[in-house]
Amino acid sequence: MLVEKNVPLQPFNTFHIVAKAHALVRISSEDDVVKLLADPEWGPQAKFVLGGGSNVVFTRDVKPVVLKVEIKGRQLINQTEKNFIVEAGAGENWHEFVTWTLDQGWPGLENMALIPGTVGASPVQNIGAYGVELQDRFESLDAMDLQTGKTFSLNAAQCAFGYRDSVFKHGGSTSVGPHPLLGLKDRALILRVRFAIPKAWKPVLGYADIERKMSESHCTQPSARQIYDWVCAIRSAKLPNPAVIGNAGSFFKNPTVSAEQCADIIARDPKVVHYHLSDGSIKLAAGWLIDSCGWKGKSVGQAGVFERQALVLVNRGAGSDGNGATGGEVMTLAKAIQTSVYERFGILLEPEPVVL
Ligand code: EPU
Repeated sequence: MLVEKNVPLQPFNTFHIVAKAHALVRISSEDDVVKLLADPEWGPQAKFVLGGGSNVVFTRDVKPVVLKVEIKGRQLINQTEKNFIVEAGAGENWHEFVTWTLDQGWPGLENMALIPGTVGASPVQNIGAYGVELQDRFESLDAMDLQTGKTFSLNAAQCAFGYRDSVFKHGGSTSVGPHPLLGLKDRALILRVRFAIPKAWKPVLGYADIERKMSESHCTQPSARQIYDWVCAIRSAKLPNPAVIGNAGSFFKNPTVSAEQCADIIARDPKVVHYHLSDGSIKLAAGWLIDSCGWKGKSVGQAGVFERQALVLVNRGAGSDGNGATGGEVMTLAKAIQTSVYERFGILLEPEPVVL
């Protein structure tokens, strides 16, 4: 087992924030975790599991041992009457995995193309885009308990998926989902994820941006590849490429409010973008709320609000020269945005990324 010391984390987070890991271990297999946990020096120490670094803000050097998950492998492991069951190692790149499933003739993940990050991180925040969430295609996962060293499997109900939420985001006991569960935040390392991809493929359309592409191209029955291409084009047009401009995707969740609260906001701001949910509550577009407070293009130090999508905070500093935004600047900007949205709409926006 190789423990690397004082490792720069800038290449390992999509915000390109400069920070160091006091100690970092690359995890390529289940056995690597077993060895680490059994080690008398490193086993008992606090640990931080890092996937593709696409949902994290480093505000200081990281004291817990960083476990950088690099577990690879992807295969069809089973077929049921209805589904292809496809398994991927937690360290596989999400977008490459989506592309590979399409190439294999197993469409169903195309609406989630180009989401940054790894397969292992995908259930943690139940990633989603253009009408499909991870939970819609999830079968089960294997993870290791970092306290006991035991491997366990979870089905979808046990993962307690919610909007950008799961059992992996909660500590202690959590009441998310139908049964009270023990939260697995900082406790589990996801090893492999299995997906149930329906054999009877149906396009998921209906999202405004996709509908626009359909009418522009006069295509009423798009193939999965066509939807994949559209999603890639839509994302490339409105979201910054983290390889070029550091960012962590949407920085805040879209808030949910009651019908009464929404009516109040509409009375003051008739243009507020909102969507009715099946339980009667209403989801508001956080990007719109931030945009209407005038934040697009604003900055704190080198941290800025992206010009084309106010929900995305970016690092305006040049790539690897160390002059980019600090995590502190990102969080100062995030707090200023929260305050101004709260003062105008009475809504406290909740950040999506993990802040360390
Ligand atoms: N809007 C504005 N101004 C802005 C940004 C958005 O007016 O600066 C309006 C748009 O015009 C649109 C509405 O707000 O009417 C929603 O915007 P968009 O369609 O871009 O989607 P979003 O709600 O901002 C969510 C996800 C994205 C996902 C897209 C598409 C969250 C927090 N974000 O964004 O996910 O790609 O829908 O499904 O749920 C991510 O999580 O990192 C992410 C990019």
